[in-house]
Amino acid sequence: MSSNIVWHEASVTKEDRRSKNRHHSFILWFTGLSASGKSSVANAFAQRLFERGNQAFVLDGDNVRHGLNKDLGFDEAGRKENIRRIGEVSKLFIEGGQIVLTAFISPYREDRQVVRELVEDGEFLEVFVKCSVETCEKRDPKGLYKKARNAEIANFTGISAPYEEPENPEVILDTEQYSIEECVEQLTDILTAKGYI
Ligand code: ADX
Repeated sequence: MSSNIVWHEASVTKEDRRSKNRHHSFILWFTGLSASGKSSVANAFAQRLFERGNQAFVLDGDNVRHGLNKDLGFDEAGRKENIRRIGEVSKLFIEGGQIVLTAFISPYREDRQVVRELVEDGEFLEVFVKCSVETCEKRDPKGLYKKARNAEIANFTGISAPYEEPENPEVILDTEQYSIEECVEQLTDILTAKGYI
């Protein structure tokens, strides 16, 4: 733990930014297997928000692991730290008035709960991107399931590492049943009904 550091209050507050933007700032936390469609839905929805004039930003697993989190692996401790850092970064984005869309497998319930508790009530919406391992494996856009089956990748989620499904997610998007566009529509309707957008 650091000592000799003092928290500075921002001169422009989160509330100031929200009222200027005319919308709430919060995290849409997409969770699901690799190839379930997290990044695709998050990016398509961010596009929709952008076109509506909302402030939105996507944090994506593969991208963040190229920079901020390139020192982390895929064992339990690496994933925990990955999600912890993303949670902290997302909290800053909330302060900045943004709707932050995070697309990380985030396989452990406990790690997702840590982020939920890091922010204020109503600032964390868990979006379960539902798709069976069988279908994700058929899609296999990056060829990673094949590598995992051949033991060329260790700890691969759904094959050789666990995925803990959300128990009470605010939103469930079933990408096996619905297209990306349909999921974007569903998400728009749900967030509108909840008064978030
Ligand atoms: S998380 O589990 O820590 O949340 P994250 O979303 O950041 O994972 O990264 C997942 C992406 O990393 C996958 O979409 C895939 O492209 C790649 N990847 C590489 N190795 C693994 C692995 N062992 N398990 C899952 N994904 C992996």
